[in-house]
Amino acid sequence: MTTTEDFHHVYVPAEKPGRPTLLLLHGTGADEHDLLALGRALAPEAALLSPRGKVSERGANRWFRRLREGVFDVDDVVARSGELAGFIAAAVDEYGIDPRSLIAVGFSNGANIGAATLLLHPGTLAGAALFAVAAPLQDREPEKVDLSGKPVFLGTGRTDPITTADDARLLSRQLRERGAEVTLHEHSGGHELPPAVLAAAHGWLVGSGLAASPAQRGQDASSARAEGGSV
Ligand code: MLT
Repeated sequence: MTTTEDFHHVYVPAEKPGRPTLLLLHGTGADEHDLLALGRALAPEAALLSPRGKVSERGANRWFRRLREGVFDVDDVVARSGELAGFIAAAVDEYGIDPRSLIAVGFSNGANIGAATLLLHPGTLAGAALFAVAAPLQDREPEKVDLSGKPVFLGTGRTDPITTADDARLLSRQLRERGAEVTLHEHSGGHELPPAVLAAAHGWLVGSGLAASPAQRGQDASSARAEGGSV
C-alpha cells in the first residue's frame, strides 16, 4: 500500500478554510519545490501538495519513462499513474484533504502524468489545469471512464515542438468524450507557460467555483476583521 512517505513531497496547508488543494506536478528535471510559486499565483490561500516524480532520467526527475522525446513508455505511464493515485489517497487521509476540491496542476511531464491520472483514476481528482500537455496514453484508447462535469484547463503552444498542440487537442477530445468540461487554451508560443495563460487559468479556476475570487478573499478578510479575528 502506498503511503505519503513513498514520495518526497511538500504539503502547505490552506490559509483559509474552504480553499482548494492544488496537487502540483513538476516538469522533467525539476522537483517538489518548483511549482510552489505557480500554485500560489494560481490560487492564493489554497493548500499545496507537491510530490517529486520517482523516475530518474540521467539524474532528471520525471513521472514516467520515455523511449525518447515525445515517445512514452505507456505501460510505465499506466503503472506510475497508479502509484500517484495511491499517494493522493494516502495524502487525502493524512492531511484531511477534501477530494472534491483537489485540483491537479502540472507542467509538461507533470501535466502528462496529471492527464493520465484523470483518465485512469478519475475518482482521485476534482479537476486539473495542465500546461504544455500532450496525450499521455499516445495511441492507446483510454477506457470509457466517467469524468462528467470535471473542469479541466489545457494550455498548449501552437509552436510547441515537444508536447504539440495536436497532442493537446487529442487529449481534449478524449476528456470531452468522457464528460469533462474542457477549456482548451491555445497560445502562439512554444513549450512554456506564458503569463497570459496563467492569468486565463486563474480566471478559469475562479469561474469554475474551485478557487476564491479576489473579491471573495476581500470579503472574507473584512468579515474576519468585523468579527475581531485575524486575516
Ligand atoms: C514528456 O516526456 O512527458 C514530455 O515530452 C515533456 C517533457 O518532459 O519533455
